[in-house]
Formats: sequence, C-alpha cells, structure tokens
Amino acid sequence: MERTLCIIKPDAIRKRIEGNIIQIILDAGFNIIGLKLIKLTKESAERFYEIHREKPFFDGLVKFMTSGPAIVIALEKENAVEDFRNLIGATDPKKAKEGTIRKLYATDVQENAVHGSDSIENGIREVSFFFDETELVK
Ligand code: RTP
Ligand code: MG
Repeated sequence: MERTLCIIKPDAIRKRIEGNIIQIILDAGFNIIGLKLIKLTKESAERFYEIHREKPFFDGLVKFMTSGPAIVIALEKENAVEDFRNLIGATDPKKAKEGTIRKLYATDVQENAVHGSDSIENGIREVSFFFDETELVK
C-alpha cells in the first residue's frame, strides 16, 4: 500500500464543494486514513511548498494557501501517488482531462482545488508533515 497526501485547497472550501471532492476520491477506491480541517500558517505553507521558493508564483501560492481553511487528507491505496495525480488532472485546469477533479472544479492554474503528492517519497513525507503516525487509522 502506498500513501499520498491530498489537500482540498481554500478555493474549493469557499465554493463548498469539499463533499463532492471527497466522494470522487472514495469512488476511485482510495482509503482515507487521516483527515482534518486546518488553516495553514504562512510559515507552514512556505515550508510545505519549499521546493517552489524560487518560482515566480511562490508568494501568490503562499497567499492563496493561507487565504482560508483547507482540508488535509492522508490517503492509502495501491499505486496511490500515480493514481491520485491522474484523478486530479493537470495543474492548469485548461489542460486537465475530462472527469478529473481539477477539470471539474478548479478556477485557474493557481486556484486549482486540490493538491496531490508527486512522488512516493513525497507522499510519505507530506503525510507526516500533517499527521503523527499515531493519528492515522490503519
Ligand atoms: P500541487 O503541488 O498543489 O499538487 O500542484 P502541482 O504539482 O500540479 O503543481 P506544482 O508545479 O507543484 O505547483 C504547486 C501549486 O502552485 C500553484 N501554481 N501557480 N501561477 C502559476 O503559474 C502557478 N503554477 C503553479 C498551483 O496552486 C499549483 O498547484
Ligand atoms: Mg506539486
């Protein structure tokens, strides 16, 4: 079993569609092993997206991710990382395939409804960024 981290981003919570997104994730066969509603601090958003620090969109990304509540979800499934990236679709919703979460619900390349870990190592690292091992249900 592989782990991946989903974040339902503040734009999706503002649109009140977090329930729809969670249902899509469950219908795709992912098991939820941890879930919480949080408000990211500037510090934690900067640390979480550390890899993008030098990118031109970094400040906008941090501002957006701290603009309201988000839901962090630890997911488990065989091939979870790749399957979840396929389920969410391309970063830019204009390029996302039909039926993907971002095609359905993203506003634009920044306000794109969901995050998904991009490698097996990052799946493990990002789940432990938000959850203690003892909080996870196995
Ligand atoms: P994520 O990490 O959130 O799952 O998204 P991703 O892998 O598809 O995209 P990534 O390149 O890691 O970018 C992280 C997030 O930064 C925002 N972004 N804005 N304005 C822009 O051109 C731009 N590019 C990226 C998005 O919120 C993206 O998901
Ligand atoms: Mg990414």
